[in-house]
Amino acid sequence: MINLKVNNLRKHFGGLQVLKGVNFEINGPELIGLIGPNGAGKTTLTNILDGAIKPNSGTVYLNGERIDQYKPYQVALTGLGRTFQVTRSFRRMTVLENLYVPALAVGEEQNRAVVHNKAMEVLEFLTIDHLRNDFAQALSGGQQKLLELGRLLMLDPDVIVLDEPFAGVHPKLMEVIYEYIRRVNNDGKAIVIISHQMDAIFNLAKRLLVLNYGDMIADGPPDEVKNDPAVIEAYLGVDEDEKEEMAGAQ
Ligand SMILES: Nc1ncnc2c1ncn2[C@@H]1O[C@H](COP(=O)(O)OP(=O)(O)OP(=O)(O)O)[C@@H](O)[C@H]1O
Ligand SMILES: [Mg+2]
Repeated sequence: MINLKVNNLRKHFGGLQVLKGVNFEINGPELIGLIGPNGAGKTTLTNILDGAIKPNSGTVYLNGERIDQYKPYQVALTGLGRTFQVTRSFRRMTVLENLYVPALAVGEEQNRAVVHNKAMEVLEFLTIDHLRNDFAQALSGGQQKLLELGRLLMLDPDVIVLDEPFAGVHPKLMEVIYEYIRRVNNDGKAIVIISHQMDAIFNLAKRLLVLNYGDMIADGPPDEVKNDPAVIEAYLGVDEDEKEEMAGAQ
């Protein structure tokens, strides 16, 4: 059974307290939306979960194993993967080579044919198999997002954190990403979607976490959370578009 346990995480950058004791737990293949205003600490939390930065205090356990002091590749091997708000592919490698990298980077003696077949399967699913021999730098922003999602699947993580997967994505590709999230979740993976796009969040997520400048102010079913006075308060005056979208999703 998948279990991610985040205990009292604190992180500051100089005098700026970005996470003020964050707690939550994921049990099983949940589909969770993580929302909050710009600068709330969502990406910082993701960076701690995947080992890119270390918390000042607090712990993270994945399936019973403490991972908060691990390096990113160790976290990936333990079973947590993430995508980046600003995509990071190897721009001068082909699309297919970008997918080989995670399998090679973990240092496992993997059969090349197995890795290749898996990469092809992933690219077909993401509808970018025709781009397999193109350099990653030739892809559109949305296609880069898809490539990141593909890279993630190569390591078969238990928990996936998607940092703004819809930002800058052409509407045509949105459906592919929706389908990816639903299918990977149905395959038994826990997924956390960070997004400012409330329509997408309310469409997909079964549970919402709301981070507000370092405090997790709500955690529950979307219908309850969107009516929570603390959440409404946090969004008031922050961003007019978001406020409208929150209202529209009621
Ligand atoms: N390496 C860093 N050094 C200093 N300050 C940082 C660093 N990383 C993040 N911050 C600050 O921490 C705060 C939280 O940033 P973070 O990127 O986690 O927010 P976010 O919720 O992901 O926002 P957004 O919705 O805009 O992506 C911001 O004030 C940011 O400027
Ligand atoms: Mg962010």
